[in-house]
Formats: sequence, structure tokens, C-alpha cells
Amino acid sequence: MGAKVKLAPSILNADFSNLGAAIKAIEPVADYIHLDVMDGHFVPNITFGPIVVEAVKKMTAVPLDTHLMIYNPPEWVETFADAGSDRISFHLRSCRDCESVVRAIRGLGVSPGLAISPEVPVFELKPFLAMVDFVIVMCVYPGFGGQKLMPEMLNRVGAIKRDASELGVSVEVEVDGGVKAQNLPMVIEAGADNVVVGSSIFASADVGAAALEIKSILNSSAAGVAPA
Ligand code: DX5
Ligand code: ZN
Repeated sequence: MGAKVKLAPSILNADFSNLGAAIKAIEPVADYIHLDVMDGHFVPNITFGPIVVEAVKKMTAVPLDTHLMIYNPPEWVETFADAGSDRISFHLRSCRDCESVVRAIRGLGVSPGLAISPEVPVFELKPFLAMVDFVIVMCVYPGFGGQKLMPEMLNRVGAIKRDASELGVSVEVEVDGGVKAQNLPMVIEAGADNVVVGSSIFASADVGAAALEIKSILNSSAAGVAPA
């Protein structure tokens, strides 16, 4: 029987013309709401800024998991904290002094996380594992929802946990990118503590039902029973 894997639906592919309905639909099963902030420079896409974080904060009490895919996070962490983020992650190679950004996030009373894209070797994370609360293992190249999960990224989950235990710490590992009902058992098997699911929830005709299906797979894996 495993610990319960958390669910962080990503609103990147939600219907922004009716974001309130989208949030309402996933609220009953979301442990976090994942907010993908992109600047068009660190990744080849632009999404939204603190104004959307503020809006979502007004709509729900579910903790907000803000994923910064931007250059120069030091300049922005306070703005995203003030907008209502409960967790803020940023990318290892998006700034020179990651340690001071982690400290700044924690100093704002927000939980800090570090993300690595597929091209970033896992060993680069090791110096930071004792100071962050969570890490994000990207299973796609960041920038867009709806991409195919890169299964070769999943062994990074165990590697990070081994690195953390060598340091005598434990760190939550969030898997982000391409997670769907079909590959969820493999992601859970890899040891993910938290999964981000975007398009396979929000691109479906019935968002609530799709979210419920993902949640039931997570719950059945925790109960130690094979998914239906
Ligand atoms: C990609 C984002 C992911 C993405 C997940 O850069 O960080 O959070 O929105 O969406 P899916 O589940 O569709 O890959
Ligand atoms: Zn993300």
C-alpha cells in the first residue's frame, strides 16, 4: 500500500473564457492547482502572469502551485507570492544564484521548489535538495501542454530520492508533462509524490469526469489495488 500520490491539475489548457467553471470542475479532486507561467524567452511560449494567479486565488481555497518557466525569477518571486502562490518552483538554469531564490521564496512564507527540464542532468539538483521542499521532474520539454511523456525521464524520480537520502533529507518529487490515465500507473511506480495533469483533464469534453478518473487511479494505487 503506497502513500497517496497528489494531483495538481494544470490550467494551461483550460478554457480561459470560462476559467471559473474549469476551477470549480477540478476543485473536488485537486490537491494543488498548477499554474504555468511562461515568459516567451526561457520557453518558446507566453502564458499568463500574477493577475491570473490573483484571479484563481479568489476562486478557490485549493493551494496554488506556481511553476515559473521564466528568466530572472529573483525579480518575480515576491510578485507571485503576493498574488497568492502557496508554492513557487523555478528552473535550475533560469538564474545564476538558485540558493538565494530558494531562500527568498521561503522568506516570503511560500514553499520553494526547483524544476529540471529533460536536458538538465539530475546531478545539478543535488546541491539544492536539502533546501527545497519539492522538485519538478519535467517529462516534456517545457512550453506547451498536450505533449507526449518521455518515459526515460521517470528514472530521475528514484535518482533524486536516492540523492536526497544520501544527504539525509527527503524531498517531494512532482512529475510534470504528458501525464495521462494511460501512463499514470508507470508514473506512480516510478515513485512520484505529486503529478501535474493538464490537457488530459482540460481537453476532455467532461473536465470533472476526467479529473475524477485520474484521482480514482491515484486513490486505487494508494489502496494497493490495481486500477479498474
Ligand atoms: C509544460 C507545463 C506543464 C503542462 C502539463 O511546460 O509545465 O505543466 O502544462 O500539461 P500536459 O499534462 O498536457 O502535458
Ligand atoms: Zn508545469
